[in-house]
Amino acid sequence: MAKEKFYITTPIYYVNDVPHIGHAYTTIAADVLSRYHKLSGDNVFFLTGTDEHGAKIAEAAEKAGKKPQDFVDSLIPKFQNAWKKLNIEYDEFIRTTDSKHEKIVQDLVTKLQKNGYVAKRKYEGLYCVGCEKYYNESELLDGKCPDHKTKCIRQSEENYFFLLAKAAKDTKLYEKIKKDEIKVAPEARKNEILGKIKAGLEDVSISRENVEWGIKFPGDESQTIYVWVDALINYFSATKIYKNGPVWPADLHLMAKDILWFHAIIWPSFLMAVGEKPPKEVFAHGFFTINGQKMSKSIGNVIDPVKIAEKYGADALRYALLREFPFGEDGDISEEKIAEIYGSELAAGLGNLISRVLTMTVKYLSGEIPHTKRNIDEHELRVGGSFNWKKAYKIYDESVENLQFNRALEAISKVVKTCDQYIDKEKPWEISDDKEELRWIIRGLLETIHQIAWMVYPFMPDISQKIARNLSIKGLLGKSPDIKESWSFLDENTKVKKPEPLFPRIEK
Ligand code: MSP
Repeated sequence: MAKEKFYITTPIYYVNDVPHIGHAYTTIAADVLSRYHKLSGDNVFFLTGTDEHGAKIAEAAEKAGKKPQDFVDSLIPKFQNAWKKLNIEYDEFIRTTDSKHEKIVQDLVTKLQKNGYVAKRKYEGLYCVGCEKYYNESELLDGKCPDHKTKCIRQSEENYFFLLAKAAKDTKLYEKIKKDEIKVAPEARKNEILGKIKAGLEDVSISRENVEWGIKFPGDESQTIYVWVDALINYFSATKIYKNGPVWPADLHLMAKDILWFHAIIWPSFLMAVGEKPPKEVFAHGFFTINGQKMSKSIGNVIDPVKIAEKYGADALRYALLREFPFGEDGDISEEKIAEIYGSELAAGLGNLISRVLTMTVKYLSGEIPHTKRNIDEHELRVGGSFNWKKAYKIYDESVENLQFNRALEAISKVVKTCDQYIDKEKPWEISDDKEELRWIIRGLLETIHQIAWMVYPFMPDISQKIARNLSIKGLLGKSPDIKESWSFLDENTKVKKPEPLFPRIEK
């Protein structure tokens, strides 16, 4: 029963970048949300892809001795394989060199012109090829780009400008953000964006004279459309390109704070200026540093998410990244931190609990899902005491819906702990005379890990499948799990299998 739609996007990443842990972070978060909403029966469409035009990419192609199109084509598998290795299941992977996208971009820019939001203007400034943008003298350090540390070139161009200030005013951008009609989150980012609008917006150049590798500007073949305009439109194009594609407007654009400006100001103004609806929500998460330092190729501290996934498992990486610090805030990550979470919460926590419960079931009850005369529902509550799985589920649901992933994972981890305490208190291995009591205790624990399997699914799909196989949880088995509509109990006609370790010891 398909309920509401949920159209979620990640940024489209620069195709000549190597997918690093920063890109992985956003994409994993989007995948968790996508899986969670699919499980709730929402009609989810999860889009990711690559940003493939612009001078930087053309330059890299030339260096590689390839034509730009061949060059970008050759880079796609790198992204798609990385996402596959991280258990990311997007619905479509959009590329800005898709000819259908290119046509849609031209159509929208034409509409923008028709609606009176484009003007041609002469522009002179200090241009950085690396950033593909102009800087003011005061922004430079010794005449060099603050990011790339390369010399900026004085350049003058006649460009087409998007009349951003007028568009924002005409479309009531400020009021819409203020009233959450366009939700900008977290709250602090919303205030930042409102502040920027209030301070006054400058019109933005949306064409380039000297960049050939791009979409031709409609009505003026001597110019190409600025990469950012081309890139932002991907979210809209997807609604037109794919059969059974998503429906505009997007429910959630997910990204880091570095590109919030484009998504929360330029993009909604542009859309409304061409008569389309703005996105419903734009959420910017924080940036992370590696061992306290900015992640950069020159420092040499870039973490390859695929390597980490090969060592610890994709699911453990997914868990650790979202567990370490609150989504939305800045944070620090390192392999040591991932290893620490792996060892404590995953191997010694979740993995050990599953193994304990299944081993006891096999040892004392020949692997049977024990039948008990007492009310199981009541029992599940007793297992967790004041923090039982029902309470955890409530916190978990609320948290995932509000993108508080670390809080959702904390709830799971707390249930694991309460189960461990329950086992230590009840000492099932000491009960030899009262089989009904033993069945009752073990059944409660099994039902609790049954629910844990559902809870971990969006975060750790492989681990969830493994638990599901051990407990024969039909709804979770197979390619895509069932919609979780009602609470069910384990099937008493099945037997549990002796577990394989879920989180094996990792050699240092
Ligand atoms: N191509 C543009 C986006 C166009 S979207 C219409 C772009 N690409 S990018 O490859 O540079 O990716 C930027 C995004 O990568 C960030 O918004 C974030 O999602 C992710 N991250 C890159 N580095 C990151 C960190 N150090 N920390 C967290 N996220 C990071 O910009």
